[in-house]
Amino acid sequence: MNDADFPLFSTLLKERSGLVLTPDKVYLLESRLLPVARKWKRKSLAELAADLRGRPEPALVRDIIEAMTTNESFFFRDIKPFDQFKGFVLPELLRRRAATRSIRIWSAACSSGQEPYSLAMILSEQRAQLAGWRIEIVATDLSTDVLDKAKAGLYSQFEVQRGLPIQLLIKYFKQQGDRWQIDEAIRAMVQFRQFNLLDEMAPLGRFDVVFCRNVLIYFDQPTKTLVLDRIGRQMAPDAFLYLGGAETVLGITDRLAPLTDNRGVYVLTGAAAPVARAAVA
Ligand SMILES: C[S@@+](CC[C@H](N)C(=O)[O-])C[C@H]1O[C@@H](n2cnc3c(N)ncnc32)[C@H](O)[C@@H]1O
Repeated sequence: MNDADFPLFSTLLKERSGLVLTPDKVYLLESRLLPVARKWKRKSLAELAADLRGRPEPALVRDIIEAMTTNESFFFRDIKPFDQFKGFVLPELLRRRAATRSIRIWSAACSSGQEPYSLAMILSEQRAQLAGWRIEIVATDLSTDVLDKAKAGLYSQFEVQRGLPIQLLIKYFKQQGDRWQIDEAIRAMVQFRQFNLLDEMAPLGRFDVVFCRNVLIYFDQPTKTLVLDRIGRQMAPDAFLYLGGAETVLGITDRLAPLTDNRGVYVLTGAAAPVARAAVA
């Protein structure tokens, strides 16, 4: 790749999505953008770069950014957070929200839907206790391609074999040819929306639980701080935040702190701390 083109692509990516691409990732840029170049009938990445230097079509910019996102996901990823949600956070919220009977959950970089659908299946398994409750699962991602797949709720054999317990597969999916279609009732529990984590979050409203897993790893430190501080503002004072196994708030923001004895779960600090800490007392 031309020396001047790499910074052009990496700056666009950083500005529009927060994703950081270091020069040692030229191969990644090339392998992911060549199909975009082909789709747009450009002969090379140099021609794509020339488009960007002019007045690129928004759809081209979107395709470039989407091609650079990493969308790896699977059902009940890392299992522990989901067990913790089921065993601690959900009972805790059932107790604390008894007056309003309302719980809002945000899957903030939901990719192809396995994360919010895992939560929806957990909630569905508890439906006797949740009768009369208003449960909202909002699932967002930057990429409209993955959101389309998530909304369709159609997964390959390989995808349903990764992390999904067989009894949940049998209960909540129907085989369609070589694919598996998620049950309409589970699908209907999740509202999918396109949302960029760099954007103002206030329109999304307040949440009791936020899953923002395996996306901050792609951002630089100032972007992580910005995004975590903004997520903190969307959390109810006693809400819970889940990050990915390789992610932390430590050294990034002091608005959030780990929930003792619960790896990967965070609560608000400061004014909200007594309420949040009551959870562990
Ligand atoms: C590796 S997947 C993580 C999926 C899921 N949370 C999990 O842990 O399995 C990361 C997702 O973050 C999304 N993403 C990247 N930058 C984003 C941004 N600025 N705003 C919203 N989503 C973003 C990507 O499109 C991708 O689907």
